[in-house]
Amino acid sequence: MRTQVAIIGGGPSGLLLSQLLHTRGIDSVVLERQTKAYVLQRIRAGVLEQGLLDLMTEAGVGERVYREGFAHDGTLLSYGDEMFRIDFTEHTDKPVMVYGQTEVTRDLYKAREATDGRLVFQVSDVEIVGADTDSPEVQYTVDGARQTLACDYVAGCDGFHGVSRKTIPETLRKDYEKVYPFGWLGVLSRTPPVHHELIYANSERGFALCSMRNEALSRYYIQCRLDDRPEDWSDQAFWDELRRRIPGEQAARLVTGPSIEKSIAPLRSFVTEPMRWGRLFLCGDAAHIVPPTGAKGLNTAASDVHYLYTGLRQIYEESDAEGLDRYSERALARVWKTERFSWWFSTLMHRFPDQTEFEYKIQLAEIEFLRTNKAAQAAMAQNYVGLPY
Ligand code: APR
Ligand code: PHB
Repeated sequence: MRTQVAIIGGGPSGLLLSQLLHTRGIDSVVLERQTKAYVLQRIRAGVLEQGLLDLMTEAGVGERVYREGFAHDGTLLSYGDEMFRIDFTEHTDKPVMVYGQTEVTRDLYKAREATDGRLVFQVSDVEIVGADTDSPEVQYTVDGARQTLACDYVAGCDGFHGVSRKTIPETLRKDYEKVYPFGWLGVLSRTPPVHHELIYANSERGFALCSMRNEALSRYYIQCRLDDRPEDWSDQAFWDELRRRIPGEQAARLVTGPSIEKSIAPLRSFVTEPMRWGRLFLCGDAAHIVPPTGAKGLNTAASDVHYLYTGLRQIYEESDAEGLDRYSERALARVWKTERFSWWFSTLMHRFPDQTEFEYKIQLAEIEFLRTNKAAQAAMAQNYVGLPY
């Protein structure tokens, strides 16, 4: 089999790139390790920047997100019983859209299937051969048979645990990593959100986040120990702890109910450089990971897709390699800015096990400064709604 762009990974990055390429008549094949159902059962963050919305519109999948998504013009930060709002429209010209990542992926699958996209599921033993040559191939096994996909370029959209990053020789690659000493215990419940906007809470007991998917589906998180397991937390224990970490007025309003999903995610900052080796281009979680505090995972994958899509269009439509040659440089410039914001917001809002009393007081002073200083609020708003591509 042959294609122009072999895309490894059928998550948001791979699907968005494939659908965008299709709009320009550039052929791709998406190779996905799991089944479509498995990919769609993943629960992930749901705050979309305008840049991602624009790419979805360009890809022809912008209709439902604007119909069913919730535009948010601000977010709330609390510390102890105090709470204040960061107003996005006061400092930027755009809102964010609350819309589950699962729905983004669902919309992209629907569009790919409607346009006869070549999606191969349950592939295994994927191997990228000749990435540093002019004729790369992707070898894989499906239905027990070994296949070879010849291509012009390979997009490694296979996430943190994929094969693409590891294909780049370690002697040519440098990884940067920070692992946080806590995790997020998340619960999905068929209950009305405690507030119509998100609440990021710093409390003496640890971080909490009140989010949502729609008016009847809420998503909550509390910072937890790394050795915690979801089964260690009954629903009641979760709700009781969440109430302790948010302002009393919000705790009194909280509507609780059975968890329909309960999971723990570790927090990590990670970047690999470069994001290109020959004709292999890393995109999304394959190249970088952020702690979810700033909701930048999907949105940074989107800017990678934008840069790679632009470079591939240039080479195919104008025989100009400038976009591909500068892909890694351009993508990493924005990646590091979102890594910084995600690290800063995580450090500001979480309690660290080894945090001294002085450091806690500094944390509270920085939150108080954010509460009272318009320049600080503008910086936060501009990062949260999304820095320019
Ligand atoms: N071969 C084929 N597919 C693979 C392989 C492999 N060797 N390894 C992983 N995959 C698939 C995974 O099953 C997954 O569906 O690649 C896909 C990668 O998707 P994501 O991990 O969602 O990464 P990405 O598409 O870059 O999206 C980034 O998703 O994980 C969240 O927080 C992350 O919001 C961010 C967004
Ligand atoms: C979510 O709704 O899952 C969510 C929202 C904002 C974040 C992280 C997660 O920063």
